[in-house]
Parts: sequence; C-alpha cells; structure tokens
Amino acid sequence: MTVAPGRLEGKRVLITGGGSGINFAIAERFRAEGAAVSVADLNPDARAAVEGLGARFAPVDVADAAAVDAWVNEEADTLGGIDVTVAGAGYELVAKATDLTVEQWDRHMAVMLRGPFVTFKAALPHLIAAGGGSLIALGSNLSFAGLTGFTSYVPAKHGVIGLVRVLAIDYAEHNIRVNALCPGPTDTPLIRRQLVGVPNPEELLASWESDTVFNRLGRPEEVAAGAVFLASDESSFVTGSSLMVDGGYTAR
Ligand SMILES: NC(=O)c1ccc[n+]([C@@H]2O[C@H](COP(=O)([O-])OP(=O)(O)OC[C@H]3O[C@@H](n4cnc5c(N)ncnc54)[C@H](O)[C@@H]3O)[C@@H](O)[C@H]2O)c1
Repeated sequence: MTVAPGRLEGKRVLITGGGSGINFAIAERFRAEGAAVSVADLNPDARAAVEGLGARFAPVDVADAAAVDAWVNEEADTLGGIDVTVAGAGYELVAKATDLTVEQWDRHMAVMLRGPFVTFKAALPHLIAAGGGSLIALGSNLSFAGLTGFTSYVPAKHGVIGLVRVLAIDYAEHNIRVNALCPGPTDTPLIRRQLVGVPNPEELLASWESDTVFNRLGRPEEVAAGAVFLASDESSFVTGSSLMVDGGYTAR
C-alpha cells in the first residue's frame, strides 16, 4: 500500500530514544510525512543517522529530568513550539527478582516509566500553548502480559498504560490526546541483543516469532505506521487508548 505523504505536515515533533529501532523508524516516517523532528537519545553515535533524516539530535538521558526539561524547552524554542511528543526511550533487562538488584530496578524504572512522565511533563506546557496536540508513549505487548525474567520491564510497561490514561483525562480540556503505542516482538537491536550469549538463539527467536499469529517478528516501520495515525489529526477522537501493533500476540 502506498500512503500519500504529508499527513504530519507542519507538526513539530519530539522523540526520545529516536536513535535506533522503532523510534528511529518513527522519526524517519514522520519526516517523510512532513513533520519537523527533534530526537533525544542516550547514544551520541546515533547523531549522524538521525541528522541524515533531516532531524535534529541531542544526546540526552531520559532518566535525567533536568536534562530532559532543558532539551524540551530548547527544542520548543528552535521549532517554534511542540505539537507531538513520542516517549520511546527504553532498554531490555532480563533477570528474575532474586537476581535483579534494587539499583537495576531503579534505573530501569527511571528510564522506562519516569522517563515518559518527565518527558510529557516538560512537553505539556508547550502543547497547551499550541492549542493541543498528541502525546505517544511506547508501551508493549508486555503492557498487558507477563514474561519470565522481565521483572522490571513488565511493571514499567504496565505503568505506561496508567500514565497515558490519567494524562488523557487531565489534559483533554486542552485538546491534548495521550495514547500508548504497543508493539509486539519487533525486529530491532533491542530484541537481537537478547539472542547474544543464550544457549539456543535460533530456538528463542522462533519462540518469539510463534508468539505472534503471523509467526514472524514485526518490522519497525509497521509500528511507525501506528505512530503516524496517533500523531495525526485522523485520530482526533482517540485518547487514553492502547494501539496494539503486536501481530496478534495479545489476541491469544
Ligand atoms: N523491539 C521490541 O520487540 C519491542 C516490543 C515492545 C515494545 N518495545 C519498546 O519500543 C521502544 C523502542 O525499542 P527498540 O526495540 O526500538 O529498541 P532499540 O534498542 O533499537 O532503541 C532504543 C533507543 O533508546 C535509546 N535509549 C535507551 N535508554 C535511553 C535513555 N536513558 N535515554 C535516552 N535514550 C535511551 C537507545 O540508545 C536506543 O537508541 C522501547 O520503549 C521498547 O521497550 C520494543
């Protein structure tokens, strides 16, 4: 299917974690749809690829609330405002509770759950000033299911659903919509890293594929298509919701 470009013409967009994988695909698609895009990512090496899209780049750790605040305000100044913010930064951490340290838990929560909170908190005044907009948090199929060893990941992704619901209620009066975009197993560096050093990587990959009804991983651009919908005015009556782009994972 070909989609006419320009669905996000004139939108000013911030994306955290946009240096890789799903969020990079979102940045790429948003640029193709006419948006002005600013990316923050922990990995400074992502700069060249992001700038290659014609997007702006800043090295920011979303666990650092002051740094996020400064970045959001600076980008709002440069772009002339903010209409859309995607909170997508995240990483995998697999350890059963008895093996997970409290410090690992705290850091994971600071990135995966407090990260979207501080990002949206900083962006909200700019969306209010713009007369409305769209906030999108990266949830997961694991926002609605458990998985062995995902001791901090699963609670963080469940928490993201709660966060978007509350913000959707509280900021509707400002014409701000807040939604979760929930991928299933998607072929990105995050998922590939989990195959390194395990005894049977092919078996593990095959099990993730068979977790979807299509028996394959999703592609980052398939998730990005959902982000275009949530960012665009086509989703004007969609808020507080979770858009599952999970290949039917949660259908079972
Ligand atoms: N790949 C999947 O199967 C899958 C499934 C469901 C949800 N998700 C979610 O989608 C999002 C993107 O995942 P991905 O698979 O594209 O991963 P990825 O590793 O390819 O990309 C994640 C990006 O986030 C950045 N990042 C990590 N910690 C950060 C921090 N503290 N501050 C700023 N940037 C940081 C990384 O540098 C990286 O560029 C994550 O929130 C992830 O939990 C992924």
